[in-house]
Amino acid sequence: MAQVYVSSHPLVQHKLTLLRRKETEPKKFRELVREITQFLIYEATADLRLVDKQIETPLAPYAGKEIGERIGLVPILRAGLGMVEPVLEMIPTVRVWHLGLYRDTRTLEPVSYYNKLPPQADVDLCLILDPMLATAGSAVAAVDILKRWGAQRIKFLGLIAAPEGVQRLSQAHPDVSIHLAAIDSHLNDHAYIVPGLGDAGDRQFGTA
Ligand code: PRP
Ligand code: URA
Repeated sequence: MAQVYVSSHPLVQHKLTLLRRKETEPKKFRELVREITQFLIYEATADLRLVDKQIETPLAPYAGKEIGERIGLVPILRAGLGMVEPVLEMIPTVRVWHLGLYRDTRTLEPVSYYNKLPPQADVDLCLILDPMLATAGSAVAAVDILKRWGAQRIKFLGLIAAPEGVQRLSQAHPDVSIHLAAIDSHLNDHAYIVPGLGDAGDRQFGTA
């Protein structure tokens, strides 16, 4: 099974509660997505490889460190867009490759409509960004696409998951670690996460 991490940080849990509230307007919703993502990316990158970096301080030479991995961010459109900026703020050297996937409302199967991956997979770590892991159809499809492309090491970063989604993603791709702010109770008859927060794309972009 995949490694699954759920942040227990009090600030994450506090902000997640504000995010879930049905009264939370898109502007505040986007702000909270940004803030929670900053905490999650901090925790999810705790095992990044460092390399030596020799620098000079104003007083002396210093044997320092720098990130030794090439990182690609893969936001799933639309809802993953709101998680990009906070990661770029923390790790400005990442490259961003968008994948467009939406869930067919009837079949619940992911439909791929956009792929901005370059021809060469010259990357050490791919971070998939999508706030919601429901049936995991979209996440599994994204990982399939990345692996076919040549990605070796992949992490999934989300805000809320259903247990069904965690199980499906970890069974399909046990090597992909899953980093979340919460695992909720279950999926409803329309495959929405309960209690969840509703439709993450609609709530970010005011399209409900
Ligand atoms: C949402 C969400 C995930 C997907 C999760 O996207 O952002 O990509 O659903 O569901 P799954 O785990 O069952 O695949 P949606 O299809 O609503 O597209 P949107 O972001 O463009 O609104
Ligand atoms: N997509 C969402 O945005 N929310 C859910 O609860 C499930 C899928």
